Amino acid sequence: MKVLLGVTGGIAAYKACDLTRLLVRAGHDVVPLVTPGAERFVGAETFRALARRPADDDVYLHLTRADLLVIAPCTANTLAKLAHGLADNVLTEAALAHRGPVVVAPAMNPRMWSHPATRGNAETLRARGVELVGPDEGETAEGEWGVGRMAEPVDIAARVEALLGPGSLAGRRVLVTAGGTREPVDAVRFLGNRSSGRMGVALAEEARRRGAEVVLLAAHLAVPTPTGIETIPTPTAEAMLDAVLALPDFDVALLAAAVADYRPATAISGKRRKDDGAWALELEPTVDIARSLGAQKTAGQIVVAFGAELGADGLARKRRMLDEKNVDLVVFNDVGRTDIGFDSTQNEVVIVGRDEEVPVAKATKSTIAAAILDQVERLL
Ligand SMILES: Cc1cc2nc3c(=O)[nH]c(=O)nc-3n(C[C@H](O)[C@H](O)[C@H](O)COP(=O)(O)O)c2cc1C
Repeated sequence: MKVLLGVTGGIAAYKACDLTRLLVRAGHDVVPLVTPGAERFVGAETFRALARRPADDDVYLHLTRADLLVIAPCTANTLAKLAHGLADNVLTEAALAHRGPVVVAPAMNPRMWSHPATRGNAETLRARGVELVGPDEGETAEGEWGVGRMAEPVDIAARVEALLGPGSLAGRRVLVTAGGTREPVDAVRFLGNRSSGRMGVALAEEARRRGAEVVLLAAHLAVPTPTGIETIPTPTAEAMLDAVLALPDFDVALLAAAVADYRPATAISGKRRKDDGAWALELEPTVDIARSLGAQKTAGQIVVAFGAELGADGLARKRRMLDEKNVDLVVFNDVGRTDIGFDSTQNEVVIVGRDEEVPVAKATKSTIAAAILDQVERLL
């Protein structure tokens, strides 16, 4: 799920690093919103790195739609701003634009916490349905004893989980293929393709965020494998086919990998020595994974195929693919363009279904992944 994480200017800002990690490990898409006050303690860059944010995050960050907003630590200053609806930095702006649960973990000196102004602000927020976690009693950074310490990150994360509840794909098994296969020519050479695996990884992460049990079949990825997702290496078309067929009890299969259509008919053992002559390679077709799955899928199973094609003719071919391969959705992207698709963090696709075609405008691959899974959920 998508979680906005507000960090404000107190010593406890460093503990928000742990909270970021816990939320990311739980499979959430975490968007850090760091106030200028917090930047005096921990840089926004640290949170961006821990949350693995893409470099091209939205310029309208404060308008990001999310399932939950958590502010930890929350200073007396930000608590007051939230109570009164001020919007003078990225976090307070986001708090006004946010619709959904809000969790606030105050952290301040005990005298600031017990001040009637702060008590009143906390009550205003509570009455509005905001969940306050802590503050706890203990010794403050300045050496005073009292109530004011930020609640422990694990307790804040547990509150977040309780409020988010099970995701929309909870209990579903989702199989994702990603990356580009490499077909051996000899011991050192291969036939490969330009797929980076970003689209498949984004799909696996989004399915996981929605609560699914995800298995990722990874051919050669140019991006790190996602943490917390079972990943099986499938370097060749044959290895990927075998792995897909060995996992028949999926609810959804998302076939985002670029699988070789042809491979060398005979693999040469050892390394072919260089000589002055030409080298003719004979290629044979591989087994089509989408067609194989389509042929054996049972009622209720959803198979989504992906098609990289050139131009409008490509879209027409993808429409025919629905019946030819007995798949439920085909995601078409035009590989004739250099600004999207292969090697790019962005994509633009048409999600082709039997009853509907949904064009998705150019966006990050995680946004495209969310749009694809929205369509899958409609069919489930
Ligand atoms: C060393 C230091 C530690 C601070 N710790 C806290 C704190 O724990 N809680 C708090 O409410 N304010 C604390 N403050 C004051 C806030 O940083 C200040 O009110 C700031 O304007 C908060 O901005 P923000 O709420 O936009 O992040 C501290 C200030 C300093 C200099």
